[in-house]
Amino acid sequence: MPQSTDTPDLFTPLRLGAIELPNRVIMAPMTRSRAGAGNCPTELTADYYAQRASAGLIITEATQVCDTAQGYPNTPGIHTDAQTHAWRAVAEAVHTAGGRIVTQLWHVGRISHPLFQPNGAAPLAPSAIAAKGQLYTGAGMEPFPMPRALETDEIPALVRHFADAAKRAVFDAGLDGVEIHAANGYLIDQFLRDRTNIRSDRYGGSVENRCRFLLEILEATAHAVGADRIGVRLSPTGVFNDMGDSDPLPHFLSITQALNPFSLAYLHVIEGRPGHHMAPPEGAPHVAAALRAAFKGPFILNGGYSRTDADATLAKGEADAVSFGEPFISNPDLPLRFRTDAPLAEADRNSYYGGTAKGYTDYPALESVAA
Ligand SMILES: Cc1cc2nc3c(=O)[nH]c(=O)nc-3n(C[C@H](O)[C@H](O)[C@H](O)COP(=O)(O)O)c2cc1C
Repeated sequence: MPQSTDTPDLFTPLRLGAIELPNRVIMAPMTRSRAGAGNCPTELTADYYAQRASAGLIITEATQVCDTAQGYPNTPGIHTDAQTHAWRAVAEAVHTAGGRIVTQLWHVGRISHPLFQPNGAAPLAPSAIAAKGQLYTGAGMEPFPMPRALETDEIPALVRHFADAAKRAVFDAGLDGVEIHAANGYLIDQFLRDRTNIRSDRYGGSVENRCRFLLEILEATAHAVGADRIGVRLSPTGVFNDMGDSDPLPHFLSITQALNPFSLAYLHVIEGRPGHHMAPPEGAPHVAAALRAAFKGPFILNGGYSRTDADATLAKGEADAVSFGEPFISNPDLPLRFRTDAPLAEADRNSYYGGTAKGYTDYPALESVAA
């Protein structure tokens, strides 16, 4: 697909590696905690994503790569045959509806609880540092437990889990690619940032060492499915899940430069707009512009964008595409609404996580709103 030389807007086609997008309105990954038995996506999951197939690209909810990767109730995995089979039905539904879909691969690391772990073990992390705060276990709130620091020789198996999950996603389930979730305080981010990584082996200390886990995952997943079907998500200044870094601008600049040799499909950066809850906290630097300049591939921004903000961002060349989270929950046909300046429906926050079709697949598309 030829890329336009005119100023791009949200409706200019875009190529992300091997994936051709008809527009730049990307659906951001969103956990909805509605997986069924065995943490399999359900028919409802397939309906939900198929309803949103007009997105330039759907990035699914975060999806476990192995049985230690879970930290919330009813989140899907892609490490068993049943889960993979169920994702196949989701991919088919989206493709039949004319869409494109990649799955976000995660391991939550310390953001878990023995209740979610095999044999009730402690969650895994780069270092034995518990997150401050509480998590929802499905049976109420509990303080985050003390995680167990991974032994150096346990890390290659985790890397393989990401590569195996990517293979299942692309070759067995027929998804268009994977996004490696290195954001929002989960396992890979815990390795990247020095608030959660105080290791003294080759996975800790220098930025080069802290990036090693991510880079090994990229090498293995690229070998498995091709780098042109892999994106990476980063949240350099995010504080969600008790995260922080002593010097995010140079650290994440180095990380971004280290991504370049892979020729990934895209880099997806969260840096909230002013006033958004994912904006850099008071006093923290804004880093997205520097990462955009350093990254030699398609760059996606996210965090509280309106259609007008997004068009301005694309016109100024600050990103190649913008992803939208909450607006896609209640507006399954968000690109059409943007294109026609139609009003956006408000999402009901009470039905974000868990439950049934209510607040999931029952938001009407524009035609049915008008009818
Ligand atoms: C219900 C909900 C679930 C989310 N789950 C994920 C997730 O699984 N993975 C992820 O990287 N981000 C997740 N996010 C963050 C969104 O991808 C996005 O970064 C955030 O909503 C800001 O974008 P927005 O202002 O367009 O909604 C979630 C957000 C919401 C509202």
